Amino acid sequence: MIYFDNSATTRPLPAVLDTFNKVATDVWGNPSSLHKLGEPAWNLLEQARAQVAKLCGVKPGEIIFNSGGSEGDNAVIKGTAWAKRQYGKHIITSSVEHGAVANTMNELKELGFDITVLPVDSEGRVNPQDVAAAIRSDTILVSIMAVNNEIGAIQPINEIGKILQKYPKIHFHVDAVQAVGKGLDSMVFGPRVDFATFSGHKFHGLRGTGFVFHRAGRKLMPLVAGGGQEHNHRSGTENLAGDVALARALRLVKEREDENVQKELSIKHRIYQHLVGKPHVKVFSGDSDNPHFAPHVLTFAIVGVRGETIVHAFEEHGIYISTTSACASKKTDEAGTLVAMKVPDKEATSAVRVSLGDQNTLEEADQFNRVFDQLYAEFQKIIN
Ligand SMILES: Cc1ncc(COP(=O)(O)O)c(C=O)c1O
Repeated sequence: MIYFDNSATTRPLPAVLDTFNKVATDVWGNPSSLHKLGEPAWNLLEQARAQVAKLCGVKPGEIIFNSGGSEGDNAVIKGTAWAKRQYGKHIITSSVEHGAVANTMNELKELGFDITVLPVDSEGRVNPQDVAAAIRSDTILVSIMAVNNEIGAIQPINEIGKILQKYPKIHFHVDAVQAVGKGLDSMVFGPRVDFATFSGHKFHGLRGTGFVFHRAGRKLMPLVAGGGQEHNHRSGTENLAGDVALARALRLVKEREDENVQKELSIKHRIYQHLVGKPHVKVFSGDSDNPHFAPHVLTFAIVGVRGETIVHAFEEHGIYISTTSACASKKTDEAGTLVAMKVPDKEATSAVRVSLGDQNTLEEADQFNRVFDQLYAEFQKIIN
């Protein structure tokens, strides 16, 4: 099996599962309990928080554990909207955000918020000057992702941050779900970023775990009210075992980040070079030397063949890829990002995504390329 669908989810590491099991078995007390079962649970939770904070270069109080990327995006966007609605109802976002951001914006629009959705260029990137031009006196939030989940485009977060320096009251949220372990921390935790959202299962942690970087002093109204856990930001008895496992997963990813980025770049390069220039192939992501693209995502189309047909054809050879976004892939034929890039329908409906992880190898890239050649020859008959 070759697993090239790491942007959809990653395989939990055995060490991470061991940690989960051990904590769930041995430290099962409620961290809020005052008795002697509560104390070690509390200590372990705060240790995990401190470890995540250290790995991210932020303060422990700025890490809020939660259930993952969708919750984080909702919590920051709705939490800003509720907390700042008396100051303004204008929000700026991009046309290539994940559904967790885009659909949250749609909900707010229904409730009377004014949402400016910025266009992207042919690489799927926002122009920072468009952000500057969209800012109004009633703007309360700018929400732009770090790495696009459909084609891997890296958004100009630093440049947007520089523009926002002049507007200290506006919250700046970065969906960083696809950015972990990709050498992008200086951008994701840049000086003007107020909130960044993360998902454990994208870096070998467990489904249903995640965290928000919440810059000290920034106010959100909590999405989940209740017992006041997570420093009052996210109520609910903590998923201690999941949070400790997430901290371990993050440490393991960070330990080999540079090496992994280089490896993913070389795998991407090998496949990119194999695909590019073929008559019916359109590649949407950049090669390894293009700094506007993350190392792990390579999206292309065999134009004229439907994306799901390509996915299933590779699957028959034991290679797992996806249409452009796992969440959307069962619902729609078209990729939102490619549509926003004004890619013609025929190309967008043929798009598939290869998404790499630290466990992939160059040998797998070679095998992918061999299978590609075989399928491409077969597909020529449909295309012509
Ligand atoms: C960019 C981005 N944001 C948010 C999410 C949602 O994360 P989760 O699956 O943890 O809810 C995803 C998942 O694919 C994503 O790629």
